Amino acid sequence: MGGPTQESGNGFSPIEIGSITSAVAIVSVLLALVVLFLYTRKWNRTQGPTGKEVTVFTNIGVPLTFENVVLATGGFNASNCIGNGGFGATYKAEISPGIVVAIKRLSDGRFQGVQQFHAEIKTLGRLRHPNLVTLLGYQASDTEMFLIYNYLAGGNLEKFIQERSTRAVDWKVLHKIALDIARALAYLHDQCVPRVLHRDVKPSNILLDDDFNAYLSGFGLARLLGTSETHATTGVAGTFGYVAPEYALTCRVSDKADVYSYGIVLLELLSDKKALDPSFSSYGNGFNIVQWSCMLLRQGRAKEFFTAGLWDAGPHDDLVEVLHLAVVCTVDSLSTRPTMRQVVRRLKQLQPPSC
Ligand SMILES: *[C@@H]1O[C@H](CO)[C@@H](O)[C@H](O)[C@H]1NC(C)=O
Repeated sequence: MGGPTQESGNGFSPIEIGSITSAVAIVSVLLALVVLFLYTRKWNRTQGPTGKEVTVFTNIGVPLTFENVVLATGGFNASNCIGNGGFGATYKAEISPGIVVAIKRLSDGRFQGVQQFHAEIKTLGRLRHPNLVTLLGYQASDTEMFLIYNYLAGGNLEKFIQERSTRAVDWKVLHKIALDIARALAYLHDQCVPRVLHRDVKPSNILLDDDFNAYLSGFGLARLLGTSETHATTGVAGTFGYVAPEYALTCRVSDKADVYSYGIVLLELLSDKKALDPSFSSYGNGFNIVQWSCMLLRQGRAKEFFTAGLWDAGPHDDLVEVLHLAVVCTVDSLSTRPTMRQVVRRLKQLQPPSC
């Protein structure tokens, strides 16, 4: 009588065995999946394309690693942001006490591929000129891209122009800034191989140190991000107000488009007006600093063009000559615009006497 009961106590019915076997099988498969998931995640993190190595071109005496760069920017905290450009924001980063670099974080989705990025950036890393900001290194992965530059304490030329009214304007300082940037552009256009077109020359891409030495920044970014010279899908890489008319209309880029933008910067540097100053609205649509300067020259009112104090202090003939130089940089005819090398030569002839 007790037989069957005992039997069912000691063993399992076929149904029970079946259920247990299925449960064990399901748990095993789940475990295997979890292990596989963890394993692939780990593999991706350590050996996959998301490696977080920083490539360093120039030794600055302290190690530049992904962690200490990100930490020094406060995790790209807005309070450390020192500039915003079309390609992303720039952050000040004190890597160790007294050693400060500038980190340009490239916006997501603007670049075409990490491989092309590596190839292009090697070119940029080789560029060396006393009036170019130095690219110290970079980090490029699928999730984060930034460029590391030397930091310049004097801020950018846009800020310099805005704050100029608070101090005396020195023609020597303005001339030096103009010549420094002309030299940097002449180097990019003529002396380096392959030649580099800047495509976004504007005051906020010109940095100053404490002695008013000027440094061009932002060069090569359009190339770096895979916007090829003939590619027009993202439109013009430049900034409204500084872009040469033929570049804006046809996306045809050339060294003469940089010359145009340089001319606009020079006009802004000499006057109190912006490229598209609000005060021009009374002259009608599309009136800009070029038309304004041409109008004043035509009417023999060149004096009115210059920022307060500059005309009174400066050599009048040289100031008018520099104004003419800026204007010829911005004419519509590409063959009439000088090359940057010619601009450098002309500015040297107009060198203020040093004392
Ligand atoms: C950013 O920096 C400011 C000032 O140092 C700080 O108050 C703020 O908490 C920081 N924000 C983040 C998200 O860390």
